[in-house]
Amino acid sequence: MVNVLIIGATGYVGHALSQSLVRSGNHRVFGLARTPEKSTALAASEVIPILGTISSSLLQAIATHRIDTVVDVSGANQESHSLLSLVREAGGERLAAAKKEGSPAVPKLGFIYCSGTWVHGSSNEPVNDLMHVGTPSAPSPATELTKWRPELEKAVLASSDVLDVMVVRPALVYGRSCAIWTSFFGPIYAAGQEGATLASVPADPDSRPGLVHVDDVATGFHAAIEKLPLIAGTGVYPVFDLQTSQEGMRDILEAAARELGVKGGVELVGAGEDLFMRAMSVSGNGSSGRAKSILGWEPKRYGFVQGMDVFVKSWVASRG
Ligand SMILES: NC(=O)c1ccc[n+]([C@@H]2O[C@H](COP(=O)([O-])OP(=O)(O)OC[C@H]3O[C@@H](n4cnc5c(N)ncnc54)[C@H](OP(=O)(O)O)[C@@H]3O)[C@@H](O)[C@H]2O)c1
Repeated sequence: MVNVLIIGATGYVGHALSQSLVRSGNHRVFGLARTPEKSTALAASEVIPILGTISSSLLQAIATHRIDTVVDVSGANQESHSLLSLVREAGGERLAAAKKEGSPAVPKLGFIYCSGTWVHGSSNEPVNDLMHVGTPSAPSPATELTKWRPELEKAVLASSDVLDVMVVRPALVYGRSCAIWTSFFGPIYAAGQEGATLASVPADPDSRPGLVHVDDVATGFHAAIEKLPLIAGTGVYPVFDLQTSQEGMRDILEAAARELGVKGGVELVGAGEDLFMRAMSVSGNGSSGRAKSILGWEPKRYGFVQGMDVFVKSWVASRG
């Protein structure tokens, strides 16, 4: 079985991915846990916990557990640079050891970095994963919140000397806990509880975000892990966007208001200066043709608004 280490296994995307891999029976799944409680939770879901942080102890763990592929789905942001350095070091050591032993060919350590389609910035113009984000030729600059990410993507891609590398970029993710939607669903829920007729939400009324369900994100990364050794070194550009729909923010939030009992609907008052709210208010007209044709990704869930009755109840339930 292939040994996969997930950095961020206790998170929203990481949990869905680890469960997809465990269910396949093709992988031994390891996950970094930052507390003993999270370590126990990982073990309960058949993920082998590695208690620690992004630090040099990870190097030892990668060697000890004979990890084949490391996947960074953490929200570690700038710390992901340190993680990349550690994984590069581990990959270099593996190649050097094989050379010393006289092995003619040795598989490189795999590394998949989870970025996000926010690197495409905000535009209704079609974008795809062959466009060079963070350059003047891109349709729009990366969102302010993630403007550091194109450089990290480049550093990941430049690590193919010692690693098999790939960058996977989900669009805005929905489903299950709908974690990232709390800033919008929260005020609508509160208005419903107070019996208010109108909910005020800090979102741009004209935005049309690109979207993808968390289960489809999991199968996208799962496909990426399985295809990485086939694609690496072939000349295929190893960057893949995962998006299944583009829907109006107003439609999304009106649908949530209906489900949460706010009869007058929502008033979208603009994102203001908050960088997270501004990032949530982007428009993204992406496509995932390459993820489907090259990775063999088969997303199953199309439509946030369409399934809002289920998604809002799931969001409420996951908050207890
Ligand atoms: N959610 C979306 O809509 C979306 C869309 C596109 C891209 N993404 C990207 O997907 C990634 C995961 O997002 P998410 O929504 O799953 O986030 P999340 O639920 O907040 O999970 C983050 C995970 O990363 C771990 N983590 C955070 N900082 C860390 C650090 N310094 N060292 C080690 N582990 C750390 C967390 O561990 P703890 O449990 O210990 O906190 C948790 O397991 C992020 O890079 C995000 O930008 C998300």
